[in-house]
Amino acid sequence: MTTQETRIQTPDLVFPTGFVWGAATSAYQIEGAVSEDGRGRSIWDTFVQQPGRVVNGENADVAIDHYHRYRDDVRMMADLGLGAYRFSVSWPRIQPDGSGAINSKGIDFYSRLVDELLASGVDPWVTLYHWDLPQALEDAGGWPSRETSKRFADYAAAVHDALGDRVRNWSTVNEPWCAAFLGYASGEHAPGRREPAQAVRAAHHLLLAHGLATSAMRAQRADSRIGGSVNLYAISPQTGSEADLDAARRIDGLQNRFFLDALLKGEYPADVLADLAEMTGFVQDGDMEVISAPLDMLLINYYSRFTVSGTPGGAASAAAAPTGTGSPWVGSEDVSFVEGGRPVTAMGWEIDDSGLHELLLRVAREYPRIPLVISENGAAFDDVVGADGVVHDRERLNYIDAHLRTCHAAIEAGVPLEGYFAWSLMDNFEWAWGYGKRFGLVRVDYGTQLRIPKESALWYAGTIRRGGLSGPAE
Ligand code: FCB
Repeated sequence: MTTQETRIQTPDLVFPTGFVWGAATSAYQIEGAVSEDGRGRSIWDTFVQQPGRVVNGENADVAIDHYHRYRDDVRMMADLGLGAYRFSVSWPRIQPDGSGAINSKGIDFYSRLVDELLASGVDPWVTLYHWDLPQALEDAGGWPSRETSKRFADYAAAVHDALGDRVRNWSTVNEPWCAAFLGYASGEHAPGRREPAQAVRAAHHLLLAHGLATSAMRAQRADSRIGGSVNLYAISPQTGSEADLDAARRIDGLQNRFFLDALLKGEYPADVLADLAEMTGFVQDGDMEVISAPLDMLLINYYSRFTVSGTPGGAASAAAAPTGTGSPWVGSEDVSFVEGGRPVTAMGWEIDDSGLHELLLRVAREYPRIPLVISENGAAFDDVVGADGVVHDRERLNYIDAHLRTCHAAIEAGVPLEGYFAWSLMDNFEWAWGYGKRFGLVRVDYGTQLRIPKESALWYAGTIRRGGLSGPAE
């Protein structure tokens, strides 16, 4: 029990009744069992085998073995009092080659997981795509190919058909910015291509996939709540100079507005299309209507703020990528990312809860009437196991506390924020960084697979129990 818990039992900052308290994971980062029960290969299975792609050549063949330990993991979620658990479905478990017949064993796994969650009082929130594209679809062109969007809609409908009777909340595509620009421009993520023009097409097709899937799922059931997950950043120009203001406009355009405007206004921002110059021209008649089909909620992943400059010579990206990569900032490769002078996490990401406040207010103002959910927020730190066997991760606890305070303030200011999911429930495979970066509320010993809730997890459990935050911010 933490001092905060013993100090005050009644929260000072009470969240609205019904506020969703959750934690999130994704399939490839936790499941392991990559060759079991008919699972096909994904682009990440291929990518991790290529030398130099992942720190220390690590892979997620075993990951944290959630595929076999899901019952214990759900019990732990219930013990922590989680209201909801956001996980993703692995497409190659459902359709090993990305199309055609459904692998019933794949569906069975998620069906059992959903049943276990419901029986434990934890609401399942399903994400349909968290970056593990079936390799066969990449071989046929990947996200730069329009066909992939159609395949995704079929897959989404199959999963929704199987689980929609028990799962109410659905997210289509997680962070299309990452899937498109890290996957196809910088090459930091699978499939590791460095083809900027193809990355822009990929972004459009990921959004189209979202839209086609949304329509397909709506046709199946009217009571599902459907949203897409975008990773938004607060963006600051380094100075008020024209060059820095333009740099901020460009990065805000590519990172935030490209996705928000498409999803919620049915158009791409004209200035971003101009920045992308001849790399456009892939939008077909009717696409934008499909992409902007009405949503029940917008899921926002927030981690940090970027400070940018139009003066070349600074870092080419906000945080150093672990492997040698190109720029993800297609059409704006000359923008420099400079230090904003804030403390950083183990990822080198600046800690700035005011950025979340700014974003929530902005989204609520510029894209009104859509309920919002924070679908990811959290931090990696170099955790140390104390002599008592516990990780006293005060930095992570303080990070989440600060961001939750911001959420509360935003709600008070009228933002329709309905829930918060901490990233991540457990330490796991952090993509190109491998296992070196720990984001979990729960520590995982990668040798024994033992799960031990960190101090932040116990604190979060207390926060959930009380329905709010107690005491002054630290
Ligand atoms: C997000 C991803 C998630 C995890 C966190 C740290 O961009 O959605 O899988 O990697 O960052």
